[in-house]
Amino acid sequence: MDDLPRARERTDFLRKALNHHNYRYHVLDSPEISDQDYDSMLAELKALEQEYPQLTTPDSPTQRVGAAPVEAFGVVQHSIPLLSMANAFSADNLAAWWQRTSGLLGDQDFDMVCEPKIDGLAVALTYENRLLTTGATRGDGYRGEDITQNVRTIRSIPLSVPGDAPPRFEVRGEIYLPKTGFKQLNERRLQEGIPPFANPRNAAAGSVRQLDPAITSTRPLDIFVYSLGWAEGAIIPGTHWDVMKWLNSMGFKTNPLITLTHTLAESQNVYDRWVTEHKDWQFEADGMVVKVNSLQMQSELGAIGREPRWAIAYKFPAVQGTTKLERIDVSVGRTGTLNPTAVLTPVQIGGVTISQATLHNEEDIHRKDIRIGDTVIVQRAGDVIPEIVGPVLSLRTGAEQVYHMPSLCPECHFEVIKPEGEAQHRCVNAACPAQALERIKHFVSRDAMDMKKVGEKLCEALFKAERVGDAGDLYSLTSAELMLLNHMGEKSATNVLASIEGSKQRPLGRLIFALGIPHVGREYGELLAGRYSSIDALGATSVEELAAIPSIGPKIAESIVAFFQLPRNREIIEKLRTAGVTLESTTETSTGQRRLDGITFVFTGRMEKYTRPEAEARVAQLGGKAAPDVSRKVTYVVVGDEPGSKAARATKLGIRVISEDEFLRMIEGD
Ligand code: IVH
Repeated sequence: MDDLPRARERTDFLRKALNHHNYRYHVLDSPEISDQDYDSMLAELKALEQEYPQLTTPDSPTQRVGAAPVEAFGVVQHSIPLLSMANAFSADNLAAWWQRTSGLLGDQDFDMVCEPKIDGLAVALTYENRLLTTGATRGDGYRGEDITQNVRTIRSIPLSVPGDAPPRFEVRGEIYLPKTGFKQLNERRLQEGIPPFANPRNAAAGSVRQLDPAITSTRPLDIFVYSLGWAEGAIIPGTHWDVMKWLNSMGFKTNPLITLTHTLAESQNVYDRWVTEHKDWQFEADGMVVKVNSLQMQSELGAIGREPRWAIAYKFPAVQGTTKLERIDVSVGRTGTLNPTAVLTPVQIGGVTISQATLHNEEDIHRKDIRIGDTVIVQRAGDVIPEIVGPVLSLRTGAEQVYHMPSLCPECHFEVIKPEGEAQHRCVNAACPAQALERIKHFVSRDAMDMKKVGEKLCEALFKAERVGDAGDLYSLTSAELMLLNHMGEKSATNVLASIEGSKQRPLGRLIFALGIPHVGREYGELLAGRYSSIDALGATSVEELAAIPSIGPKIAESIVAFFQLPRNREIIEKLRTAGVTLESTTETSTGQRRLDGITFVFTGRMEKYTRPEAEARVAQLGGKAAPDVSRKVTYVVVGDEPGSKAARATKLGIRVISEDEFLRMIEGD
């Protein structure tokens, strides 16, 4: 085909340009083009690669997401172990470290590099022949987990490096969630009735250690690279400072705050400044790392056990305070979970008045031995919800009371249970008004149907007036009712109605999420919308069919099926239908393309282009079916890399076995 050379030239150009703009945006934080321009170039590249799959390269920006979920992570052996660090907690500790180091170096002068100690998750990235080949966690320092497909989704990690980079090398750094991302993720989890992450470190680790890279890709993870692990076939700069500049020039994101210092006093000064400034940083840091700058000196100094002598972690003081735990309040979430909150005698901690703290569940309260009336240590780190570290035992009077979760729901007085294997207590009353109200609030919220003018207060007022009992009732509200029930002016009422009207066009994924099916978060909403073309199709599915989707476990599958069996939920969906809310996916199926009608596929092995759920979703959109196992009903078995026994079984049964390319041609058509 004589179009191929032209397509090759264009894909090369687009790939380079997109990688460059990705670097400008995610590493330098200084974009040169608009998001729209970026998106349209990406769309063009995607289309070209779809037409000419042979032009797709491993470092194409289209290849960040799309790997299939895994059952478990592989193991990566670190050829040079990932070390930890000794801590310093005071100026005296730092001075002692400096004295010792100086002595070991025969009283030579030495420079240092001061860096924020990022509160995230250590990662080692290996590049071979210019391409990112492995991403691994630290693990026990010697053996980590293979998280390559997940690190590929992080936009500030380059998929390829320039031609003059060493042929093989490893960089190390810290993957983290920026403060805003952490806050949003936790807000979302609370809305979804899932316990929030205790700190950004846990959140980053939880996001990176997802078995499905599609989920990792929705988390706003970032990285700061902080050292070169090893390099082959290259001359390495002689100092840590120059290594950082060098890594930076290869496209890696290093921390812009790192500072070169020459004396102990200078290092202490940097620390004193950072102690106050770090509260305004975009990322969570729990201290300052001081490193000896010369790599020669580093290797002379060596390590004791796992702690190098050439570095120290000088911790920022934790912002803690003590106050009295007055009582524990319990609120009911939309899935019926009982969420305990500590009510504290207000106290100033790090310049902020704290009067409440999270208490995750009863087990947590007992594990920490927190009792009502205790004087407790409260800790606040950055934007994180304050936490109770534990009681001050020496101040116990004996009048403190052990806490038990109520046996009746504080809102509807129905029975409370604690399901096997769950940490949270739950109200069993499906008609619990507190849950019903929370479900309505969830439905209108930003990530769900996004009814901007319908706030929590309005939901409460309409619910209390018994005008809105479920989300479906919102769509029959009139301007007169709003004016009467919520004492609104005509203009505000019109805005509210417009906001409700606008929500009718939300994509299917959001609607699925908005329905508030237990365990179905925003990401699963999207995933299901790709797999099922309408609410009705999802409602008619079975546990088996759902559980055959790799990222969906039996718990989620059962929860979805149970949700659609409840008459109450069916009624809501009917109200939505009557109101004209879009209940179908607005893409392919509505164009009447049902090219794969009557055709059933089975997938085996890893595919390059689509994850398995994506491929299955695509097939479903085109009217076909995907089956989990080979049987006589199957039309084609699509084999990817490292196929399992299904391919052999297909041949035995005389079923056509096709390659991924053949499959792509089939679904992409002409
Ligand atoms: S250097 C000395 N630099 O802290 C060798 N580590 O306690 C250690 N960390 O697992 C690596 N920010 O994940 C280094 N700027 C920084 C760091 C940093 C955070 C983490 C790192 C390591 C842990 C050691």
